[in-house]
Amino acid sequence: MVKRHVNWDKLSALVKNGVPSLGALFKDDPNRAARMSFAHGGLYVDVSKQLISKDVLQALLGLAKDAEIEAQRADLFAGKPINTTENRAVLHPALRGSCGDASISEQVEAMGIRTRKFAQAIRESGQYKAVVHIGIGGSDLGPRLLADGFAASLGFGAQPALELRFANNVDGASINDALAGLDPKSTLVVMVSKTFTTQETRMNGKAARDWLGQFAQDNMIAVTANQGGARNFGVDPAQIFEFWDWVGGRFSLWSAVSLSLQLVYGPDMFDDFLAGAADMDAHFKSAPLENNLPVILALTDIWNRNFLSYPARAVIPYARRLRKFSSFLQQLEMESNGKSAALDGKPATQTSQVVFGDEGTNAQHAFFQQLHQGTDVVPVDFLAVLTDRENRPAHTSALLANCFAQSEALMRGKSETEVRKGLKAKGMNAADIDALAPHKTFPGNRPSTTIVLERLDAHTLGALIALYEHKVFVTSVIWNINAFDQWGVELGKELAGTILDELQGGTDGGHDSSTAALIALARKAQADA
Ligand code: F6P
Repeated sequence: MVKRHVNWDKLSALVKNGVPSLGALFKDDPNRAARMSFAHGGLYVDVSKQLISKDVLQALLGLAKDAEIEAQRADLFAGKPINTTENRAVLHPALRGSCGDASISEQVEAMGIRTRKFAQAIRESGQYKAVVHIGIGGSDLGPRLLADGFAASLGFGAQPALELRFANNVDGASINDALAGLDPKSTLVVMVSKTFTTQETRMNGKAARDWLGQFAQDNMIAVTANQGGARNFGVDPAQIFEFWDWVGGRFSLWSAVSLSLQLVYGPDMFDDFLAGAADMDAHFKSAPLENNLPVILALTDIWNRNFLSYPARAVIPYARRLRKFSSFLQQLEMESNGKSAALDGKPATQTSQVVFGDEGTNAQHAFFQQLHQGTDVVPVDFLAVLTDRENRPAHTSALLANCFAQSEALMRGKSETEVRKGLKAKGMNAADIDALAPHKTFPGNRPSTTIVLERLDAHTLGALIALYEHKVFVTSVIWNINAFDQWGVELGKELAGTILDELQGGTDGGHDSSTAALIALARKAQADA
């Protein structure tokens, strides 16, 4: 595979000058916000509150050039086998019509027609009341995020045609909750698994099939890249919908993996979602690097991770209907780029940040204390939606005010001098001021990006997700790693198989004393039950 010799020296030299002061950067350049904000596809991306000076930005763009982003991007869209450890192409953009040769486009189109027809027929039949979507990881997180996003697209007060529930975990509570109170006759169960070997999905699928009883033949559907696996599981071949090995699980929500969403919200809304992503694909393919949204987002991550050494990033959507975005991104970013080996097998540089988050303002009342005053700097991605879709404009104003205030507060901070002045003005005595001032001081100069959505609908959601997908790809190119495999999830699965066997009476698998004691505890509890 190609190697990209990326020269980090220029940026390493710049970081030695110290962390830039955001206050000074804004003061010195009245045009900074305009210069460092970028708009496309209903999204406005403001990176001006990142600790990036003009020199740093130029050097970062130089790094992107050195890494041959444009050539690598061309390879992605051309369907080259850039997933080198699995020798696979990575063609999720083909699912929204953005690339692929004639045979790929034909497959995608044919499947699109089939899912549309099927969804329409089910919706028109009036026979069904609920859909239970069973899957985990990439076969779950994307569709769950879409369920909320599509509800927002529908608008306040409108009801979807069918109720949508999800079961993911192998904890029995997951499938029990999903099935509770539903009638097997009027429930469709959609099993989604790329491999059709995933333990959680198979166990939940089996439980659902038993629950469906006589209706299992008609009401059980599978979406998979392993049609044989689904057939052997007992799903009627006429009810199996295919996707392909060139679609990674965490990139698969653009395929039949989202059949449940088409059933519940209709194929037109799904098409809108695909169109939003296609619009971002076109931008990513053609915009110059210095105005290219995914590239700009990637470069801020590189600066924060590799030069300022910030190992984590918080993602805070100020939108209830985007509250699953941070979990979705955790898989997208950490499963893609949480790697230690470079493409040539040598040790990689520092790679993916730890991504975490929750909806604003809830997060403010939970972990923002640490973001403002903790000893580690944690950059934040703030997401905000301008348009009220809940018929509560006052709530929207309050939500936006909180979002904008948080990024301003992180940047500005509050110096000890300011704190002392304020306390004195309130009449506090000098000794109490001395005691309290350090606790009320905010260091400030903490970086963030703000992404504003004009409105939250299927189209904009498509653009937003594609933006992050491409950002993940660009960072992987600069880190010289393969973003499209996930070997790191295998070892735990293997060991779980051995331990499950032991829990069910099998022979001792030979463990350390800690694991052996835990297994013994579980066996005793099972024997006592
Ligand atoms: O264990 C991780 C993983 O392989 C993810 O990459 C994938 O999205 C998830 O499991 C589910 O896999 P499948 O769709 O094959 O059931």
